[in-house]
Amino acid sequence: MKDKYDFGLVGLGVMGRNFLLNVADNGFSIIGHDLDQKKVNALIDEGGDTAKVNATTHIQEFTEALGAPRSIMLLVPAGHIVDAVIESLLPLLDEGDIIIDGGNSFFTDTDRREAYLRKKGINFFGAGVSGGDKGARKGPSIMPGGNRDAYQHVKPVFEAVAAKYHGEPCVAYLGPKSAGNYVKMVHNGIEYGLMQLTSEIYDLLKKAGGLDNMEMHHLFAKWNAGRLQSFLVEITAAILARPDEFNDGHLIDFILDKAKQKGTGKWTSQNAMDLGIPIPTIDMAVSMREISALKAERLQADALYDRPRPAHMKKDELLEKAEEALYFSFIMTYAQGMHQLADASKTYGYDLDLAVVAKIWRAGCIIRAGLLADITEAFIAAPTLPNLLLSPHFVPKVTETVPAARELVSYAASNGIPLPGLSNALTYFDAYTSSRLPLNMIQAQRDYFGSHTYERLDREGIFHTEWGA
Ligand code: 6PG
Repeated sequence: MKDKYDFGLVGLGVMGRNFLLNVADNGFSIIGHDLDQKKVNALIDEGGDTAKVNATTHIQEFTEALGAPRSIMLLVPAGHIVDAVIESLLPLLDEGDIIIDGGNSFFTDTDRREAYLRKKGINFFGAGVSGGDKGARKGPSIMPGGNRDAYQHVKPVFEAVAAKYHGEPCVAYLGPKSAGNYVKMVHNGIEYGLMQLTSEIYDLLKKAGGLDNMEMHHLFAKWNAGRLQSFLVEITAAILARPDEFNDGHLIDFILDKAKQKGTGKWTSQNAMDLGIPIPTIDMAVSMREISALKAERLQADALYDRPRPAHMKKDELLEKAEEALYFSFIMTYAQGMHQLADASKTYGYDLDLAVVAKIWRAGCIIRAGLLADITEAFIAAPTLPNLLLSPHFVPKVTETVPAARELVSYAASNGIPLPGLSNALTYFDAYTSSRLPLNMIQAQRDYFGSHTYERLDREGIFHTEWGA
């Protein structure tokens, strides 16, 4: 047992254990706390030297072993467990101590906890941690929000353990209160969008081109070496090559087509609705998880309706267009997420620097992608840019790739292949870039049936018309 440890971590599940060992690898002494004696013992065994890595089931032993101000990170499931852990720590803490919630907590919970703890002199951080268990061990992207001065105490640890992009740590102080959790929530919304789009392109390649798993494996791997370079494209390539352990063939063909969700994508959509910011590709990705869950109904419905037998596209053309359309739709997804962040930053007073957000997503996190270097540049050039589609950096990239999206969406529609994410990304683009939309008709209808009034193009003021019967 060491006299005082540099950092404390509550929750020795996979994420907690891996994050803790990462902290220790970077030369900080760390003590973990978990009520499960087996997890505590396993960690002490793995740590080797208890002066560097220790763990205890006793919360008081844990808090007493930490140097002042105490920095305690919680990696426990989001929800009431976070409140319960905070309550058990509180009587044992001193003013100026720091609690960091590293889970996917809902941002308003973080605001509530921050205000509650501030009154007690405790600094509370909501810090999104992305990269899964491997990221936690080898270098995650970390998105902290809270008190700026208190951040200085945890900054050395976070900068040491975070993933590095060309030597720059993928962590930065993002803003007050729940800024970190909010950014992580939108990160997950973007994650949902990119996953949906990748899965649609996989489906299209099979149905429109007859590609087999290994052909698709090579294709995704090739794409990952180009402008589509990203963690999700990389793992898609790897997944496609994985043989099944029970049957001949590949594992992917034996996985049930029902995707679960823990809620962060849904929260992103719900909050975007509250803000009045359109993120339809992310909404659609959430809806697709819901449709996927209706497997029994889908089976019934499939038997009731005929669908066209897909006519194969010319392979070379399909492969080229699929790459372009995926790139186009990835841009639309990031554009929607960044748009939401830009608006939330004003509404919730986060004062986010979107170039910094894009920077810390360039490595370590699930949505890391070559595109994020371009997004960083766009926001450095125009920090208050409301939407990436307005950036001169993005106009040529979108202009070059949107024709492929049009072609594949129209092919898929006439061949009965669902491409909800891609078609939605395309209609988002077409609507956002239209100077005139048919919403004049909606205004007229509202005024017709409800005297809701309307504005005019040619003169100032509010108007109402007696439309007749
Ligand atoms: C990350 C991920 C992670 C998330 C999983 C599962 O950044 O490491 O976003 O936080 O929990 O991806 O999310 P769903 O269960 O909602 O798909």
